[in-house]
Amino acid sequence: MFAPAVLGPTVDVLHELAGEGPALELAIGTGRVALPLAERGVEVHGIDVSEAMVAQLRRKPGGDRLAVTIGDMATTRVGSGYRLAYLVYNTITNLLTQDEQVECFRTVAEQLAPRGCFVVEVFVPQLRRMPPGQTAVPFHVGSRHVGFDTVDVVSQLSVSHHYVREGQQDAQGRELARYAASAHRYVWPSELDLMARIASLTLTHRWADWDRTPFTAESESHVSVWTKGGA
Ligand SMILES: C[S@@+](CC[C@H](N)C(=O)[O-])C[C@H]1O[C@@H](n2cnc3c(N)ncnc32)[C@H](O)[C@@H]1O
Repeated sequence: MFAPAVLGPTVDVLHELAGEGPALELAIGTGRVALPLAERGVEVHGIDVSEAMVAQLRRKPGGDRLAVTIGDMATTRVGSGYRLAYLVYNTITNLLTQDEQVECFRTVAEQLAPRGCFVVEVFVPQLRRMPPGQTAVPFHVGSRHVGFDTVDVVSQLSVSHHYVREGQQDAQGRELARYAASAHRYVWPSELDLMARIASLTLTHRWADWDRTPFTAESESHVSVWTKGGA
């Protein structure tokens, strides 16, 4: 996600939408996107729930100049008049209920300037890969890493499981692997549009990626832009 081929187009789109700014990044993390956007002259504010992530951001060049508030992005209000708010890298799925995701849209909309934009980058749920009765689906199978999701289609909650080979053996000669898991609430594009509508935002763009490739039935991810006050 730090590769210039990924980050360059991301920052290009956000820079264009931010105009004169200011911009608000929900779940700013370690500043992967906020720092290069700020380098282009956009005033960027951030919210993140993790003090540890923000501490890493502060250690990076320019990281001490961004205004960051520690809080939950579903409910934390930090200002008003933002030209752009953005929530990328699938992080809306870290809000684990529909109510929290709706609240996030409302909270963002209140802080946007008229004609301001909210941008979300998130995967399209891959339920077409799962035949009826199956509850797990792999998303990466490699020689070092195996990842799969277990899915509850009623709550729309999924857990991403990762097994990573450590390249080391224990005293009995067994190969060691590290396990990590994260919970997500997957959300459909049309469901996001309804959340936006509840918050008085209107869909103005939906691309398959940051290069603005058209979104189609085969797209596995999308970058969506909703505007306050319509197109
Ligand atoms: C995958 S990282 C993305 C960071 C950054 N946006 C990027 O694109 O590199 C997810 C971030 O979301 C933050 N996060 C998760 N749930 C959150 C919440 N409810 N409110 C605010 N931040 C949250 C985590 O602390 C973490 O920094």
